[in-house]
Amino acid sequence: MPVQRTLSIIKPDAVAKNVIGDIIRRFEENGLKVIATNMTHLSAAEAGRFYAVHAARPFYADLCAFMSSGPILAMVLEGKNAVTLNRQLMGATNPKEADAGTIRADHADSIDANAVHGSDSEENAVIEINFFFSDLDLHSRG
Ligand code: PPS
Repeated sequence: MPVQRTLSIIKPDAVAKNVIGDIIRRFEENGLKVIATNMTHLSAAEAGRFYAVHAARPFYADLCAFMSSGPILAMVLEGKNAVTLNRQLMGATNPKEADAGTIRADHADSIDANAVHGSDSEENAVIEINFFFSDLDLHSRG
């Protein structure tokens, strides 16, 4: 399995619930390493740029408003099969459909306040990592 990098975001709802540590513990216990972190509070315009790929979807305005409603923690995760592994640990987008034991099953309240974001492909991971981080911010530890 290839070593990959992926972008993870702990969303405003999960930051507000004080479950940052529980979410990072799940990543680390499953072999993912946190190699960069950035706690930030996006403006609505910045959230709009990050989610530009969804601009035509009916929930776009709500998604941007939610993602700019409070601080988030953006992280780069590194490890074998990181893109898929992260999404498995996250669970389905809609927490009602998320498998038991996943982050969204345990911490998400709704399809919009759904605790975490994860890149959906290696190609998009590069784009999303570059949105929040420069090369100098990434501290790969093998
Ligand atoms: S995914 O994860 O990209 O496959 O999921 P997708 O269904 O395409 O959704 C893309 C992101 O939009 C969010 N979303 C919504 N926000 C608000 N309201 C509704 N109804 C809604 N449906 C989907 C979803 O949480 C995804 O956010 P990210 O940050 O990519 O996980």
